[in-house]
Amino acid sequence: MLRELIVRHVKPVLPPGLYQGLRRLDPTAGERDAAREARQAAAAARSARKPRRTAVPMAERDLTWLAKHFGTDKWGPHRYPPHYERHLVHLKNEAFTLLELGIGGYKKEGTGGASLRMWREFFPRAQILGLDIVDKSFVNADRIRAYHGSQTDAELLRRIVADADNLQVVIDDGSHRSDHIIETFGVLFPLLPIGGIYAIEDTQTSYWEGYGGSHDLTASHTSMAFVKTLLDDLNYEEFTKAGYQPTYTQRYVVAVHAYHNLVVIEKGDNNEKRHGPDVAAP
Ligand SMILES: C[S@@+](CC[C@H](N)C(=O)[O-])C[C@H]1O[C@@H](n2cnc3c(N)ncnc32)[C@H](O)[C@@H]1O
Repeated sequence: MLRELIVRHVKPVLPPGLYQGLRRLDPTAGERDAAREARQAAAAARSARKPRRTAVPMAERDLTWLAKHFGTDKWGPHRYPPHYERHLVHLKNEAFTLLELGIGGYKKEGTGGASLRMWREFFPRAQILGLDIVDKSFVNADRIRAYHGSQTDAELLRRIVADADNLQVVIDDGSHRSDHIIETFGVLFPLLPIGGIYAIEDTQTSYWEGYGGSHDLTASHTSMAFVKTLLDDLNYEEFTKAGYQPTYTQRYVVAVHAYHNLVVIEKGDNNEKRHGPDVAAP
């Protein structure tokens, strides 16, 4: 109390040298100085440990950062963004349309749209379309449009693509049922232009009976069984059956990239000419 009164009222009117001299007569002054220095050092250490709350520069906002920021499960439960970034970076500043099946949030009102917002931020000139079996019109915003309906409604899918401007990317993150995945691919892949990208997410469901998948790796009805057929399709020109007529996917799938639970398929003109021996005449 007395020390406080001296510091407040006497210190300001004394020459600094005289006050320090008087202070040296106080036996507890050294202790207090040491305690203050320790407090200051601890505060400095705390501040050094604290993450800086400065804005993340645009250049550092890669797709993984955006996925975390907008809260899509493409990052966290899954590790998709680095793969997407590698396959889609050539479209970064292009004017094109991306269509994602499955907007998110399921039946929970007012939830979903995280990935659509992520794509809009990553592609500053793209139109981002989403389709969901639940009405998600609340996500509509500048460059984002939500369609309501099923991914197996072929007529709706065709209408969406007809209205879209330069569709280049389709992402199937919808029902994750094997039969739906295969059916939707059958409608949408032919509607992509050469150079287009078609991605199928969450292929773990290919092994889950509840999603129309199977534990049996030789089963032919699952989404991954379908993907495996595309691998042979890549090499159809080497089939040795005379007069063989290629299917649509044999003609137009030029690459299949398979990752943990994610498949990325590239569309192109699969027409490199055969490499193997001549086919025997029938
Ligand atoms: C995994 S969430 C999509 C997450 C979102 N794409 C993201 O990354 O943030 C799957 C969504 O697909 C929708 N869905 C389920 N069955 C569907 C179907 N047959 N057609 C279209 N959407 C469907 C669900 O309502 C749900 O909102």
